[in-house]
Parts: sequence; structure tokens; C-alpha cells
Amino acid sequence: MRQYAVRGGSPLVGEVEIGGAKNAALGILAAAIMADETVEIENVPDLSDITVMLDAIKAMGAYVEKVDRHTVRINGSTVHTTTLDTEAIKTIRGSYYFVGALLGKYNNAKVSLPGGCSIGSRPVDQHLKGFRALGAKADIAEACIVCEAEKLIGSHIFLDVVSVGATINLMLASVMAEGQTYIENAAKEPHVVDVANFLNSMGASIKGAGTDVIRIRGVEKLHATHYTIIPDQIEAGTFMMAAAATKGDVLIKNVIPKHLESISSKLLEIGCEIEEFDDSVRVVAAKPFRHTQVKTLPYPGFPTDMQPQIVVALGLAEGTSIVTESIFENRFKYVDELVRIGANIRVEGNTAIIEGVKKYTGSKIMAPDLRAGAALIVAGLAAEGVTVIGDIHYVERGYEDFPEKLRSLGAQIEVVENELELQKFRLRVG
Ligand code: UD1
Repeated sequence: MRQYAVRGGSPLVGEVEIGGAKNAALGILAAAIMADETVEIENVPDLSDITVMLDAIKAMGAYVEKVDRHTVRINGSTVHTTTLDTEAIKTIRGSYYFVGALLGKYNNAKVSLPGGCSIGSRPVDQHLKGFRALGAKADIAEACIVCEAEKLIGSHIFLDVVSVGATINLMLASVMAEGQTYIENAAKEPHVVDVANFLNSMGASIKGAGTDVIRIRGVEKLHATHYTIIPDQIEAGTFMMAAAATKGDVLIKNVIPKHLESISSKLLEIGCEIEEFDDSVRVVAAKPFRHTQVKTLPYPGFPTDMQPQIVVALGLAEGTSIVTESIFENRFKYVDELVRIGANIRVEGNTAIIEGVKKYTGSKIMAPDLRAGAALIVAGLAAEGVTVIGDIHYVERGYEDFPEKLRSLGAQIEVVENELELQKFRLRVG
């Protein structure tokens, strides 16, 4: 079984380059099939979720060419099916964007219900409500989302909850609908804006992405484009937390500092120094951390996908910190693992009460999901001794070259396949 072996206790120091945003790429790749001309997309992260998306696009009959590791060309003119129910597609969350894209282009879609991390109930009722408002029949049948319409007609959609997935899906479905669509109470995350910018570059007319109300004027068709995906806010934030938790000094390059403000401001609050440049952020953690309070919120609030990482840092702060998770109800499963390496954290409902400890001590722990897995690696880097993290396939879904990037900052981390390799690692790192 593949595991990460980490010898912690040394500060991370140096520079690291952030890749393209996974969650933007998932929406953009689905959107790409909506044009009957070739679109070229750069800065596509090389991750297993992205490979699943690209394989699904091929399986539908579209032309897919990997130009290099991070550039892909897609042409949707040869799509021959609107049904997508492969085993692989069931494992990822972003699969639901094919519903919006196929329905928007062909008035028809049947796609397996999405998988992804088990961090809460993750319903799709808001997606279905929006598709219905556009005039489609939309239901769940045979573990698939099934939608069809005579034609789609622009509508006024008020989302009951702020949902990234529903906002992107409804942009996709309405981009070629007849007339105007308004999505109210829309999500404002940077990847929502990136998908809108991508669609606009293909000739769509989407205004207001990044605000509460998105206005879409339907166009007849979408055309070729060349587009570069934004940097990944969460990968950047994870490296910021890794710099902080290891008392390091790291320049995180190729980021949009504005997207990181909620993270930067919390790190400042607990005693880190943050320097912002045009497209990079430096985190220096020289002083002991102060305790604080964090509540996850939709953008521009503190991201739920950074909640486990900040808990790891606060576990080493002086005093009692409180972290409230307000987006997903089941996102503290990793706390038991953190406690194994010496954290003092109590979870009550959607709140973690963290009594700071002086240090973590290496042990064997398991990644319960993608972001928590990354957070546990950060904890291992901060811990004394060797930490072994299992179920790393979760982490590989969202972080390209994670061990390599960490090693470039001085971390001692390796993928080990078995007990013998682990013993060798232990001997090597002392
Ligand atoms: C996306 C991200 C995920 C991130 C999350 C919140 C992808 C592939 N995943 O997930 O990494 O943690 O945004 O930033 O981009 N909800 C409903 N009904 C719906 C849809 C959502 O009640 O139809 C609820 C959810 O249960 C949750 C909240 O709305 O409580 C936000 O979910 P949403 O923003 O939709 O998350 P995802 O798009 O699944």
C-alpha cells in the first residue's frame, strides 16, 4: 500500500510554484465540449481527477489531445453520446459538470451521480432546481442525474444555498439557452469566475461572475479559444500553512494574492509575517503562534477546503482556538488522526475546540479525504520523528507533485510502497 513517509521537525525554506486550479479545470474541461471547434487550455493540473475527466470526454467521442503535461486541446464536434456512467466517472465530484454542459448543448444528459470526498451529504437539489427552472425535466434515476428538455429557456433562478457546483452547472446549462438567465445568490469563488471567463472567451455572454448575481444572455453557439486556467487557491494556501506550521520561510509563486486574503489575514493574526507581491506571497513564521477563531464561509470568507490545514497550525498555537465548519457537516473526521500525533482537539458538532500543544510526535495515521490528507502531511512535516500517512490516493487527486514540491523546500518526504521501503527511509533520515 502506497504511503507517505515524512521525517518532520525542520522548517520549510525556499520557493515553490503553484499549478492550475483543480476545481476551475473540472468546470472548464466540461465546458470545453460545448464548442464544435478546437479549444486549447493551458495550466491544466496533472491530477488523477483531471485524467478521469479527460477520459470521460474521450469516451463521449470528443477529440482530446494532450499537447504537453499541462496543455490540452479539445474539440466537442464529434460527441456521440449524452450518457456518461463509467466506473471512473462515479469517483469524482466534477463529473456533475457534464450534466450542465451536455444539457446546455444537446438538451439531454444522463450522468452518474457524483462521488468525491466524503465530507458531508453533498446533495444536488439546487442543480436540479436550476435545470428545471430552465425548462428541463431533471431527476435522479438509476444512480444517475437524468435531464432532458425540448429547448432551454432563460429564467430567474434563486439558489437556496450558496453552491459552487450549482452555480457553475447552471452557467453551463444556460449559456446557449434562449433569452436571459439570472442566477441569484450565486457562489463567488475564483473558480466560478474562471469558468465564466473561459465561456466568455468562447463567445458566451456572462456578466457578474464573482458577485451574487450572474446574468447570462444565451448565444447560439460557442467557438474556438485559447485559455489559461488560474492558479490553485487551495494548493497555494496549503503551502502557506506548511510554511507556517514548520516555522519556515517560503515564497509561494504563481498565485493571485487577492484569492489568498482570507488565509493571509488568519496567518497574520496568529503571528506570521506575510509579504505580498504581484503574483507571489511570502510566509515567514518566526514567532510562536497566537490562538484565534476561524469560521469557514463561501468566498471571500475562509475556505472550507483550508479548514483542516489551519486546524493543524492552530494545534501548535498558544491557548485555545475555535474553528467552526459551516459548509460541510462531516469535515472533522481527520481530528482523530491528529490526536494520535499529539494534538489536543475536541469536536463538538460543527466546532473544533483546539488546545494548543508544544509539538506533534510522529506516528502512523490515515488520510480520510483530499484536503484533510494534505493537512495531515503538513502536520507530519511539523512533527518530531517519522509520520506515516496512508490512503494517499486522496491527496494525489488534488496536489500535483506534492512530495517533489515539498522536497524542494527541504522536506524529508517519500512515497513508500511497503514495510521494507519504510525501514530504509527510517534508516536514511535517522
Ligand atoms: C466545491 C468544491 C469543493 C469545495 C466546495 C465549497 C469542486 C469539485 N469541489 O464542492 O472542493 O469544498 O465547493 O467551496 O469544485 N448544497 C446543497 N444542494 C446542492 C448543492 C450544494 O445543499 O444542490 C450544499 C452542500 O451540501 C454544502 C454547500 O451547499 O453544504 C456548498 O456546496 P457546494 O459549494 O455545492 O460544493 P461542491 O460544488 O460540491
